[in-house]
Amino acid sequence: MLSRRILHAPHCGCESGGAISLSLVKKIKVKLRSSAYDVLIGGESLRIAGREILRALGAKPSLCMVVTTTRVRKHWGRVLEQSLRAAGLRWVVIEIKDGESHKNFGAVESLMRDFAKRGADRGSIVVALGGGVVGDIAGFAASIYMRGIPVVQIPTTLLAQVDASIGGKTGVNLAAGKNLVGTFHQPRLVMIDPQVLSTLPNRDYRAGLFEVIKCGVIRDAKLFKFIEDHHEQISSRDSKAMLRIITSAVKVKAEIVAKDEREGGLRRILNFGHTIGHALEADSAYKRFLHGEAVGWGMLAAAEIGVLAGVTPRKLADRISDVVEAYGPLPSVKSTAQDIMRLIRSDKKARNGVPHFVLVTKIGRTLIANDVPNAVVKKAVERLRNLSSGRLPVR
Ligand SMILES: NC(=O)c1ccc[n+]([C@@H]2O[C@H](COP(=O)([O-])OP(=O)(O)OC[C@H]3O[C@@H](n4cnc5c(N)ncnc54)[C@H](O)[C@@H]3O)[C@@H](O)[C@H]2O)c1
Ligand SMILES: [Zn+2]
Repeated sequence: MLSRRILHAPHCGCESGGAISLSLVKKIKVKLRSSAYDVLIGGESLRIAGREILRALGAKPSLCMVVTTTRVRKHWGRVLEQSLRAAGLRWVVIEIKDGESHKNFGAVESLMRDFAKRGADRGSIVVALGGGVVGDIAGFAASIYMRGIPVVQIPTTLLAQVDASIGGKTGVNLAAGKNLVGTFHQPRLVMIDPQVLSTLPNRDYRAGLFEVIKCGVIRDAKLFKFIEDHHEQISSRDSKAMLRIITSAVKVKAEIVAKDEREGGLRRILNFGHTIGHALEADSAYKRFLHGEAVGWGMLAAAEIGVLAGVTPRKLADRISDVVEAYGPLPSVKSTAQDIMRLIRSDKKARNGVPHFVLVTKIGRTLIANDVPNAVVKKAVERLRNLSSGRLPVR
């Protein structure tokens, strides 16, 4: 459900000292069986985070523990701190190490030690300011510290804004695999300020776009068409275009999560492009591809599998591959079909070694297939290798 409102911030605490005119903030409600929370999206919404946190919690927390990285803090820490001050909140900032390789139990333990050292109690909250890594670690720590304290997500990468911050999944990696340990801990509020993306490296921004494309393919034909038609605006981070795609992608995720909080059914369609995407990431030891880039390749593979399995029209597969290509380039695929086949059978989402594939019948419509013949998967992976080595024309 989408509603719009104008938010005024007469005492914003910004350096100019004057009132700031905030652009329109959109509100999307994530309605779960036992709870509900708002996702606020809008330029400059970071400036009103303090006030909105207060509103969402309904009472003043004893302490806000802002969890972030040095890099994100350098760009956006001050804006957030000013808004917390303006709202009369008490806060501390805790920096954690940057990068996927630090998303482990050690990081969670040391973060919780910090919570305790800073005097966090049951009335305290965690505010995650950063990408998906920060969101997953801070969310996990919030879910178990004193058996659970609230978390507010303020995602600062495109991927975290349209995906990781919504839906309540938290977790860390084990040596045996990614995201093998975690909890469901729904945030009390998600605040998305597209302006923070202005400092995001281009490669990270583009990687996030593939998750947006995925949302269009699985659920929102208008979003997909918009992405097809507005390449220049989206690529150049035009603020209107960003607001449009982020809002639509968040609506898709919010709707799916509301219908399937614990990934029992519908939520699996969010895995479009992920079966082979995850295998590509694992086969390259999570070094070659950003997650979104692997999903870009995975969507091409899923479209091809759909064609070979007779469920995806060739024209539709071509539209998907045209869009993926337009928002590329992607790092080339070096994995062999054999390696990919082995990895998809051991993926944590495979049941009894049988992988499932989300296939698309038309834009916005999907089906889950768990009986795709090995030969079809093999052919699709071989096509990726050919495409990426340039030996085959795209079509
Ligand atoms: N919980 C979920 O539902 C869910 C869903 C999807 C992905 N994830 C997880 O998210 C993680 C990936 O997240 P990510 O892609 O955001 O990567 P990330 O958190 O590693 O961030 C990427 C880089 O961008 C920097 N950064 C973040 N915001 C910035 C900004 N505004 N300006 C400049 N630099 C900025 C970070 O410091 C980092 O170096 C993975 O661990 C993945 O498993 C979780
Ligand atoms: Zn993903």
